[in-house]
Amino acid sequence: MSQQHNIILLCLFTVFITSLVLGLENNSTDEECADLNNTTWQEYRQRSVKLQVQYLLLTRRNLDCAQTFTQQSLTETEQPSYFNISRPTKVIVHGYRALGSKPSWVKDLAVALLRAQDVNVVVVDWIYGASFAYNLVVENYKEVAVQISVLINQMQTNGCKLESFHFIGISLGAHVAGFVGTLFEGKIGRITALDPAGPMFKGADTFDRLDPSDALFVDAIHTDSDYFGISIPVGHVDFFLNGGKDQTGCARSRFASMYGYVICDHMRALHVYMSALSGSCPLIGIPCSSYEDFLKGNCLDCDIFKGTCPTIGLSENSGITISPIPKEQRLFLLTSSSTPFCAHHILLRLEVSPLDKSAEVEVTLRTESLRKEQRLRLSPTDSSRTDTTMYRTVLTHPLPLCEIQTIELKNTGAFYRQGDIHVKSVCVSEFPSNRQDVPLCVNNFHIRRGAPWFHDFVQVCDY
Ligand SMILES: *[C@@H]1O[C@H](CO)[C@@H](O)[C@H](O)[C@H]1NC(C)=O
Ligand SMILES: *[C@@H]1O[C@H](CO)[C@@H](O)[C@H](O)[C@H]1NC(C)=O
Ligand SMILES: *[C@@H]1O[C@H](CO)[C@@H](O)[C@H](O)[C@H]1NC(C)=O
Ligand SMILES: *[C@@H]1O[C@H](CO)[C@@H](O)[C@H](O)[C@H]1NC(C)=O
Ligand SMILES: *[C@@H]1O[C@H](CO)[C@@H](O)[C@H](O)[C@H]1NC(C)=O
Repeated sequence: MSQQHNIILLCLFTVFITSLVLGLENNSTDEECADLNNTTWQEYRQRSVKLQVQYLLLTRRNLDCAQTFTQQSLTETEQPSYFNISRPTKVIVHGYRALGSKPSWVKDLAVALLRAQDVNVVVVDWIYGASFAYNLVVENYKEVAVQISVLINQMQTNGCKLESFHFIGISLGAHVAGFVGTLFEGKIGRITALDPAGPMFKGADTFDRLDPSDALFVDAIHTDSDYFGISIPVGHVDFFLNGGKDQTGCARSRFASMYGYVICDHMRALHVYMSALSGSCPLIGIPCSSYEDFLKGNCLDCDIFKGTCPTIGLSENSGITISPIPKEQRLFLLTSSSTPFCAHHILLRLEVSPLDKSAEVEVTLRTESLRKEQRLRLSPTDSSRTDTTMYRTVLTHPLPLCEIQTIELKNTGAFYRQGDIHVKSVCVSEFPSNRQDVPLCVNNFHIRRGAPWFHDFVQVCDY
């Protein structure tokens, strides 16, 4: 017997002893909790079978102790399963596991789903096939989808309806879910893609990647589309958070931790989704053709959805009520850097007399307890053609516009920039707004270098 075998046996023995001890202590030897099965490079190299897909079941009745879920769980009477055929089923599919480790967030996502809805949560564990060489993993993903579809077929035979399935796929898991959808000709209920994987999928045929035809409704959240995520829309609605590339609060420095540098953006989609499940504040997307247009304040409403903006989370069709549901609709929103990630979108319109030089302005919106400053760069304009220039930009604030008490403008440009800026008007308004909100405006003043200008608003919130 080789040394490697001895080590594995030793490990198994240790695990056995440990669980035995725990079992006695806990006095619960009759029910052992199932867990995701991690793998090591050593095991992986010696593998005899390609995939080892297993399923874990979590419900409100066994939140702390996952149950292994198999085809037999549906019919077996000796070992009753917590699975309830009359309830909808959420299927969580993880993605690529570089080191073969268990994804630590699976439990949190399952619990967040179960807090929101009384459903069956089935976790697909395909860590064995999802680990190490990315290109080999990409070869495996369809085979995993085929295996999942066999189980779904069996569940269908036992009375589960295809439309009652909602897949939540993370990264590469989104394409696994997409291929399950392809196998069922788009008849499964919903697929939610959390930063669907980009490498090797962006140029792929829709047969090979997630697309709107894979389920009755497909929603996607994009947070790292310049690296691990995909930059093209893959669902009916695609939420691009902060433009979909770089997330606030994720370190940009190369001295940042491995997590900060490599996967913070990518994992943000999951954290925002879990936060949305808790329902503490709305995360709504606004349709726009590009992020640049959105930031310029050219997209301020959800008229194409008859006024209701799509929301991240579990509401049916993301809250869209129009029919047919548009496809590949790009939606944009800005978020804050930490839970619950919601932010109010505020359009700033600054009308100034023509500038000779470029200028830098710091805009601060203050409430009683909070101040938030954001920088604005104004480029010089051709004064022979216009006598006024309008700058529009979208800002965020943690609180709604009606709570803002003071606006402050500071000319922060260096000496070689514009020294005196004549402001014809500055207006702030919140969007999207369904009431007839009047923008807050101040007219005709100068902002000089070194002398901040501010104005107090008198207003009340009528919640
Ligand atoms: C089992 O025992 C361990 C250690 O004593 C404890 O931390 C854990 O909460 C127990 N689990 C249950 C389900 O009682
Ligand atoms: C463990 O189980 C035995 C028999 O089922 C019971 O008598 C005992 O009280 C239990 N101990 C604890 C600590 O729960
Ligand atoms: C877990 O992984 C080990 C080694 O990779 C394998 O022998 C075992 O069968 C797996 N268990 C399940 C339930 O898939
Ligand atoms: C997973 O792998 C790590 C490192 O190899 C090991 O420490 C841990 O006990 C394993 N967990 C399970 C549940 O097998
Ligand atoms: C299964 O779900 C249905 C519908 O929610 C409920 O009425 C029923 O009590 C559940 N069955 C069990 C065994 O929990």
